[in-house]
Amino acid sequence: MKIDVLTLFPGMFAGPLDESIIKRARAAGLLDLKIHYLRDYTHDRHKTVDDRPFGGGPGMLLKPEPIFEAVEDLAREDTRVVLLSPAGRTFNQAIAVKLAQVEHLLLVSGHYEGFDERVRERLADDELSIGDYVLTNGALPAMVIIDAVTRLLPGALGDETSAHEESFSHGLLEYPQYTRPAEFRGMKVPDVLLSGNHAEIAKWRAEQARRRTQERRPDLL
Ligand SMILES: C[S@@+](CC[C@H](N)C(=O)[O-])C[C@H]1O[C@@H](n2cnc3c(N)ncnc32)[C@H](O)[C@@H]1O
Repeated sequence: MKIDVLTLFPGMFAGPLDESIIKRARAAGLLDLKIHYLRDYTHDRHKTVDDRPFGGGPGMLLKPEPIFEAVEDLAREDTRVVLLSPAGRTFNQAIAVKLAQVEHLLLVSGHYEGFDERVRERLADDELSIGDYVLTNGALPAMVIIDAVTRLLPGALGDETSAHEESFSHGLLEYPQYTRPAEFRGMKVPDVLLSGNHAEIAKWRAEQARRRTQERRPDLL
């Protein structure tokens, strides 16, 4: 999979995308990730990317010209262009699964008060929010989406089953998990998990997942 990111803050991406599973996925050639600096698509001396909103109001907006030029330069036939915006539909595991099947993803990250509306109208295939709060720019949302998508790429996780068993993969939260010791500070691992009875363990886990979802996230049921 190829992911391009357009941002005003390329430096923010160093670190999170150079560690752990994403680092390995990149090294193994599963993910071809490139970060592009929006100011590289400007032509004036000051590398201007923003301007005041027509009609007045606080703050600055990202101008359309550099974003159009960048997207037209980076996009191919099969590219999915995603704007990052608090006004987008809320990103979730089902969207991550769909995006992991895309050949080329172009994430367009905003800043200031956001984008000139014509960027949305003409360039965006989708607009995603990572939650109902406002961040200073789209770099963190882009990294959240890259992380969630990359771990779903075939071969990215060491144990292929782990992405199928965890929270949200069946519309439920994950069941409680334990490792050794079987008793720690008086807290015991449920007997069923030590029983070796795989059918009973599967039944217990299914019940626990449903109960936990009912208690914490009934909206998922
Ligand atoms: C300060 S925000 C702009 C907020 C905008 N004025 C609004 O009210 O929707 C600047 C940029 O950060 C990014 N951003 C902030 N919060 C986000 C969120 N929850 N999800 C996705 N992107 C977000 C977007 O790219 C946005 O253009």
